[in-house]
Amino acid sequence: MQDDANAFPGGVVAPLLPGAPLLAAKDIFKTFGGITALGGVSFDLVSGEIHSLMGENGAGKSTLMKILSGVYSDYDGTIKIDGSRMRFASVRDAEAAGVAIIHQELNLVPELTVAENMFLGREPLIGGLFVDRKTCTREARTLLARLGIALDPEARISTLRVGEQQLVEIAKALSLDARVLIMDEPTSALSPGECERLFAIMRQLAASGVGIIYISHRIDEVMQLSDRVTVFRDGRHVWTRAMADIDEDQIISAMVGRNLHRSEHARDGADVGRAAVLSVRDLALAISDRRGWKQVLRGVTFEVAAGEILGIGGLLGAGRTEILQAITGATEGQVGGQILIEGRPVTVTSPVDARRLGIAYVTEDRKVQGLHLHDTITDNVALPRVGRLARFGIRDFSGEEALAANAVRTLGIRASGTDQVTGTLSGGNQQKVVIGKCLAADPRILLLDEPTRGIDVGAKSEIYELIFRLAGEGMAIVVVSSEMPELLHLADRILVMSEGRQTGILDRGMASEERIMQLAAPRSLRRQGKVTA
Ligand SMILES: Nc1ncnc2c1ncn2[C@@H]1O[C@H](COP(=O)(O)OP(=O)(O)OP(=O)(O)O)[C@@H](O)[C@H]1O
Ligand SMILES: [Mg+2]
Repeated sequence: MQDDANAFPGGVVAPLLPGAPLLAAKDIFKTFGGITALGGVSFDLVSGEIHSLMGENGAGKSTLMKILSGVYSDYDGTIKIDGSRMRFASVRDAEAAGVAIIHQELNLVPELTVAENMFLGREPLIGGLFVDRKTCTREARTLLARLGIALDPEARISTLRVGEQQLVEIAKALSLDARVLIMDEPTSALSPGECERLFAIMRQLAASGVGIIYISHRIDEVMQLSDRVTVFRDGRHVWTRAMADIDEDQIISAMVGRNLHRSEHARDGADVGRAAVLSVRDLALAISDRRGWKQVLRGVTFEVAAGEILGIGGLLGAGRTEILQAITGATEGQVGGQILIEGRPVTVTSPVDARRLGIAYVTEDRKVQGLHLHDTITDNVALPRVGRLARFGIRDFSGEEALAANAVRTLGIRASGTDQVTGTLSGGNQQKVVIGKCLAADPRILLLDEPTRGIDVGAKSEIYELIFRLAGEGMAIVVVSSEMPELLHLADRILVMSEGRQTGILDRGMASEERIMQLAAPRSLRRQGKVTA
């Protein structure tokens, strides 16, 4: 499949686009210790284009973007901006040359506000000394409004949801007025509406001459946005082609290097007659913020049987994640209502209680809640089992190692070995480690929040197979997902949330994207009859 001739025939961009060449990277090599992340790739960008970069987890996409944006300066190969050779020593350096990046892993300071994060390191000053907070806040507010982002510039980052934090990252990068904008999976935690707004902004920017490098595992987004697509596989360039010349299947087979049979894994309906493993009655959650107490959940009632997969759908902020947090005690808010496991009422005040009761929770934010990024894969995966594996108080290192090796194998984690430090894995592979860690605890109930966020198509169908297999073994599973095809594919029933309330539970046969959207719409829209099936 190697087709490098197409990328750089004599240094000319092919297929030729009308825009002026903005950025050209040629023969880039980058290794980390013994791992070759990039084995000599080339990539170019012309002004006014949206150029998507696709590839499986670990293909080297983020590594190249970090080189282009000044995060890494030790690499081999050349980078030209407007035809002149450049080697950025820092992110500031790259920004000065007009290159801005929205990182895949959020890079915000949780203790600071939205506005402070947006202007970090380049705050407007008073008398050259003191940060001009007023101007900072005002400018942030103007920019957020222009982007149609409904966020309080004075809100602390730590109080925001992952999707909201992603919006702050985006606003921050856009505030730099860059000519080259790199977006490394900017939409992975956004709602469909927010994605659309972002796409409109991207098209506007491109029309004004900005070159955009776009990375996403959502092929439909890539299809609708891109002018050109480049595919990387295992740190190598496979091809660069105009969107008009290719289709989805060609992209996928170039990514995985084989024809992927799309898993239309029709599930034999779960045995609905079975007794509930998890019952939730009248679940409520109130959280306190700067303005006092706020009711974020009320009246949520559902049951999940052994072997059943319950999907939870709804818009960003509808209370989906909060349901999982309330069930597992992973919240500082006040939880109301009743939780029963196999018919017995239980009290869960902390994630430790939840684990003891056999509930595993894969959170949407792996960085904060899921992983110890400085530890190895083995340390992370075996963590919940260290106590149980040990005999007479002596840790069973080979048992821990075997557990991790098993996770690496069954989940297809791409790593140099089980001793690789988790923080150095590609984004998608970190997500697989989080899932491996939860499964190592041998849970009866598995709660998954956006389980395939940032996961490539191949690995995604592997994770679906895994979820089906676990359900087949009798686990009760709850999946929160923003991707409707994912919910429809996985779930036996789908509970839909809107503004903290449950608006319906759809049986598999009844569920469709339209039905879910209808139930997910805010009350004001539903009342006006603006949402119809
Ligand atoms: N700091 C690092 N130390 C060691 N290895 C690293 C480091 N950063 C990246 N790697 C390795 O380089 C390879 C490429 O990683 P990269 O993050 O570029 O992949 P990616 O294409 O962005 O994947 P994803 O779709 O999962 O985000 C992976 O094998 C990864 O483990
Ligand atoms: Mg990446």
